[in-house]
Amino acid sequence: MSSVVQYPAGSVQIFDDSETACEAAAGWIANRIRDAIRVRGRAVAGLATGRTPIRVYERLVARHRAGKLSFRDVITYNLDEYYPIRPLDPNSYRAYMDRHLFAHVDIPANRAHLLDGTVPEGFTDEHCAAFDRWIAADGGLDFQLLGLGRNGHIGFNEPCELGVEAMLALPTRLIPLHPTTTADAAADFGGHADRVPRHALTMGVAPILAARSILILAFGRNKAEAVAASLQGPITSAMPGSLLQTVSPKVTWFLDAESASTL
Ligand code: F6R
Repeated sequence: MSSVVQYPAGSVQIFDDSETACEAAAGWIANRIRDAIRVRGRAVAGLATGRTPIRVYERLVARHRAGKLSFRDVITYNLDEYYPIRPLDPNSYRAYMDRHLFAHVDIPANRAHLLDGTVPEGFTDEHCAAFDRWIAADGGLDFQLLGLGRNGHIGFNEPCELGVEAMLALPTRLIPLHPTTTADAAADFGGHADRVPRHALTMGVAPILAARSILILAFGRNKAEAVAASLQGPITSAMPGSLLQTVSPKVTWFLDAESASTL
């Protein structure tokens, strides 16, 4: 591992490979959970899905099985969910979280929250506003785990032409998915981009950046351009990862050598 380097969008650690980075990420999360429980009696965790964190969850499950980490006092809020989608659909993020984490640890069922892909049309605003209120009522996120889209999205806050102030204020909401995101998700839907839901519910930029700390992971050569633009480029809504520059003291990036190759 290289030493910690300070960039405009946070402190960066580059690992030889994603395996080592995932082990470090699991350690980072376990420490955040223990610290929050010590101080407030519970930990409020913002979680991500996608390919990147799968091995992080594997390692958290291993720590739990070894008796080193309990989720009894952990409350979780996931970044996003496809819309519409049934929770039992294997491609739903609810199913992903059950498969990779919730089914294997001692988290109480009513503390693991995801946006609901079955909310009736016309009620998504109400549901998303309630989700933001639940996070606030739980005292805010102790930490948010993020991946980075190939197009620079965080959660499903896709690149857009909004002014930076307006982008920073975005709440949790229903959004149309960007074509790059749909193309990247096609593999999970049998290679058929047309089977990927066209919309998703996503935690907004505002609640993400309000987390007390943020760990963002990006692995592989295909993330290198978005990583470099987020860390070193201008703050712009066209590259949502760059918005992390506005809260850089609380942001940690764990990269592998490939995603860091153009820094
Ligand atoms: C997932 C999420 C997305 C992913 C991003 C990277 O909950 O919000 O922003 O983190 O699309 O996805 P992977 O890890 O599959 O490359």
